[in-house]
Amino acid sequence: MTSRHDRPTPSAFSWWRNAVVYQVYLRSFADGNADGIGDITGLRSRLEYLRDLGVDALWVNPWYVSPLNDGGYDVADYRQINPEFGTLDDAVALMAEANEMGLRVLADLVPNHTSSEHRWFQEALAGSPGSEARARYHFRPGRGVDGSGPPTNWTSVFGGSAWSRVPDGEWYLHLFDRTQPDLNWDNAEVRAEFRDILRFWLDLGAAGFRVDVAHGLAKDPTYPDLERAETPLTIVEDTAAHPFWDRPALHDVVREWREILDEYPGSVMVAEAWVADWNRLAAYLKPDEYHQVFNFHFLQSPWEATRIRESISVGFNAARAQGALPTWVLSNHDVVRHPTRYGLPQDLDARAWLLDGDRDLLDSDLGLKRARAAILLMLGLPGSAYLYQGEELGLPEVHDLPLDVLDDPVWEKSGHTLKGRDGSRVPIPWTRDGDSFGFGADGSWLPQPEGWGSFSHQAQAGIEGTTLELYRTALRIRRELRSDDESLEWLDLGPDVVGFRRGSGMLVMVNLGREPVEILEGEPLIFSDDVPDGLLPADTAIWIAGPPNSR
Ligand code: NOJ
Ligand code: CA
Repeated sequence: MTSRHDRPTPSAFSWWRNAVVYQVYLRSFADGNADGIGDITGLRSRLEYLRDLGVDALWVNPWYVSPLNDGGYDVADYRQINPEFGTLDDAVALMAEANEMGLRVLADLVPNHTSSEHRWFQEALAGSPGSEARARYHFRPGRGVDGSGPPTNWTSVFGGSAWSRVPDGEWYLHLFDRTQPDLNWDNAEVRAEFRDILRFWLDLGAAGFRVDVAHGLAKDPTYPDLERAETPLTIVEDTAAHPFWDRPALHDVVREWREILDEYPGSVMVAEAWVADWNRLAAYLKPDEYHQVFNFHFLQSPWEATRIRESISVGFNAARAQGALPTWVLSNHDVVRHPTRYGLPQDLDARAWLLDGDRDLLDSDLGLKRARAAILLMLGLPGSAYLYQGEELGLPEVHDLPLDVLDDPVWEKSGHTLKGRDGSRVPIPWTRDGDSFGFGADGSWLPQPEGWGSFSHQAQAGIEGTTLELYRTALRIRRELRSDDESLEWLDLGPDVVGFRRGSGMLVMVNLGREPVEILEGEPLIFSDDVPDGLLPADTAIWIAGPPNSR
C-alpha cells in the first residue's frame, strides 16, 4: 500500500503551469454511506463526472482525523483519515483511481496549527512551563502582576484574543480558533515532523499540496504588540513588519519542503497566502519555493474593468518576474460564492451583507450572468485555474441559512458579527429531486435550500446553454488550444472591456460596461450568453479564434 503510484504523465513535469484544479470540499461533495456527510466513497463515485468536466487535478480539503471544529483545518492526526470521511485505504484507492483517469490529487497541508486534540498539544497541556512538549507550540507567560492578561494584544482571525490560558497560568497562541494552537516553526521537531508528513502523502500518491495559512508560519520571537487591533477575517494591507503575517523567516521552511517535492517529479505546492502586496507575494514563487500562489486580488476585485485588469496584470507581471505564472481563483470555501458577490452592489461587503443586509439588493440573475462571463475570463488567462465545487453548476451562496445550523467557528468567535462561511459549503445537488438532491441517501449536514435541485448536475447535463455545459465546453476548448505559450497581450477595446490576445491567437473579450460593444473579427469559439447582432452585450464574454500571434 505504501508504494508510489505512477503519475498519469510522468514526463510532464510542469503540468501544473496551466492546469485546471477542482477543489473538493469533501464534507459537502457526495455522501457515500448515508450519514449526511460527504466522504471519500462519495467522491470516488463521482470521479468520472470530474474527468468528463475536463479538469486536470483535484485539491481535497483536509480529510485527516479532526474534531472538525474548523471544518478539518484542526488536524489531530496528519497520517490518518477522519472516520467520517473514510479510511486511509479509501484515500489511497481514490488517488490511484483518479491517477488512472488522468486526475492528480493535491492534499491540503495544515502546518500553521494543529488541533488541540493532537497528541502533541495533549502532551503540552500535561507538560510544565518550559518543557519540550510546550516548545512545539507558542506558550508564554501572561502579562500583569498575576499573569492574567494575554502575552500580547494579537487578535485571532476569527475574532477575540489570539491567546488562551491553561490551568497552570501559561498562555498559548492560536491565530484561529482556540482549538487550533499555532505550531512553533523554530522548533526542529516540528520541522522534521512535517518533512515526514510531506513524504508520507507523496509516497501514497498525492501530487502535492495546497498549503494552508502559508503566510503565517513564522512569528516574531520577541512577541511585540500589534500597533492596531485587527478585525476578524480582514486582510492586513502592509505586512512589511508584522509580528506574525508574511515574515521572511517562513521562506526557510518553504525551501526545505521544496527540496522534498523536487524528489517527486511532477509534484506541486500552492500557497494560500493572504498577502496584499504582490511585491512581497512574489517571493513565495521563487524557483526554490512554491510552484503557485493564489491570486486573491483577482478574486477580491469588484466587477469593474479597470480593477479587474489591474488585478490581472499586477499578478501576472510579478509572477512572470519569478519565471512563474499566477494562479487564478474566483471562489473557495472561505469566501462568498462569486455569483452572489457579483449580484450585489459592488461597493458592498458581501460578507457583512450575509448577516443582515437588505436581500432586495441581490440580483441573482445578474450575478450569474457575470459569473459566467468571469469564468471565460479566468479560463482564458495564461496560468493555472482553481474551480470550487459547485461553481460549474452556477451555485450561489446560500445566504439564508438559519442561525442555529451555522457550524463555522467564525459565527461564535466574531461575537455574532459575521455569519461565517457555511453558505458556500452547502452540500452539492446532483439530482433534481430526491433525498438531499442526490448528495446522499439520508439528509445533508447543512440544509439545502428549496429549489437547489434546479442547479443539479441532472438538471443541466447535456442541455445547451446551462452553466455546466458552459464550463465543459470552455474546458474542452482550453485543452484543445493548450500551448506552452504563456503570453498575454492586452487589447485596448475601451475602458469597460477587458480584452486580450493569447499566443495561440485566441482573443478574449469581456464587456463589463452597460452598452453592447462591437465584437472583434474571427471565428467565435464560445460565448458566456446569447450574443445577438454581432454585438457583445453587457456582462458577457466571448472567445474568438484569431491568427496565431507572431511575437
Ligand atoms: C484557511 C482555510 O481555507 C480556512 O477554511 C481555515 O479556517 C483557515 N485557513 C485556518 O486553517
Ligand atoms: Ca458519509
